[in-house]
Amino acid sequence: MPAEGAKPKVSVIVPTYNERENLEELFRRVSEALSGAGYGFEIIVVDDDSPDRTWEYAMELGKEYPVKVIRRRNEKGLSSAVIRGFNEASGEVLVVMDADLQHPPEKIPELVEAIEKGADVAIASRYVPGGEVKNWYWYRKLISKGAIMLGRLALPKIRNVKDPMSGFFALRREVVEGVELNPIGFKILMEILVKGRYKKVVEVPFTFGLRRAGESKLGGKTMVAYLKHVYRLMHWSGELDRLIKFSIVGTSGVFVNEGFLWLFVSWLGMSKYIANIPATELAILNNFTWNDLWTFRDLRTAPLWRRLLTFHIAALMGVVVQWLVYAPLVYLGMNYLLANLFGIGASFTVRFMFNRNVTWG
Ligand code: GDD
Ligand code: MN
Repeated sequence: MPAEGAKPKVSVIVPTYNERENLEELFRRVSEALSGAGYGFEIIVVDDDSPDRTWEYAMELGKEYPVKVIRRRNEKGLSSAVIRGFNEASGEVLVVMDADLQHPPEKIPELVEAIEKGADVAIASRYVPGGEVKNWYWYRKLISKGAIMLGRLALPKIRNVKDPMSGFFALRREVVEGVELNPIGFKILMEILVKGRYKKVVEVPFTFGLRRAGESKLGGKTMVAYLKHVYRLMHWSGELDRLIKFSIVGTSGVFVNEGFLWLFVSWLGMSKYIANIPATELAILNNFTWNDLWTFRDLRTAPLWRRLLTFHIAALMGVVVQWLVYAPLVYLGMNYLLANLFGIGASFTVRFMFNRNVTWG
């Protein structure tokens, strides 16, 4: 950051593919917003050799605005374009935005101010109070929010971020400098939030507007690509290892449960109806111990009694969820053993997520 009082230089990175018709208005509004607020800036267009020659038009507009144009002939992809933009940028604050004016350029100064006030990452967010999405059907919103919820649960590092899928954000260059970002995929912000070096994230509400001209490139296959991305990041951050360890511990619990049940009934002559209860409790304690010493060893911050308590709550939640999935499926005519498998799957997921985020959160 520059000396006290001086405003940082801002690099606005705009990935483009067939956005010629949007460029002029975009450049004008970015320029007005940033000059108006007293910032020095540059616009970096990273174009993947668009058939409509966006790159050419961007260079032409460069006579009027401080534009740097990268025309990539051999590479494609939104994330890799943004990463390329980072490498070309000379500003202290890097802003990423779409070219199609769904991201209002007038928001940029607010994002940069948030950085100046101490945030490392400032996200223009659709999902904090005051933010919204224009013209989306309810199911589109539902899918978007569901996907975000899943990502937040699977990746604890981003669990406090309301809109980790936003394509409009600002960051201090140190956040990504020297960080190896994966160029596959299109949720570059999520990638940065998992791998970047930062402390403070701020979300600024904005309205995700309508595309001015041209059409969206991120259609149908994006959901699968998103899930793959979440999976890769889980792997990278070690969360996948935890999931595997948690499953192994869970399996060991089945043996402990069966073993003690057998012991209580055939050795101690306990009632079969009662023996199940202490056997289950012992299995829970077994699982707790191994998860505490192994799966979540590095995350033991809450006091032991609290970890034990919330682990039991998770177990109880698991039972309830299992039944809530099982019963309706059976009612709908599904084979009861198959229905129970779905129930077990749901219970497992809920227990893992709860324990990961609460017991060892
Ligand atoms: N260089 C390059 N290469 N640019 C691309 C590519 C590519 O392969 N694909 C898309 N772009 C550019 C577009 O030209 C546009 O400027 C921007 O990236 C966003 O593309 P859109 O096609 O308009 O995306 P969207 O509106 O469906 O999705 C936006 O909103 C999502 C949230 O709902 C993006 O901002 C996403 O990142 C965001 O998650
Ligand atoms: Mn768009």
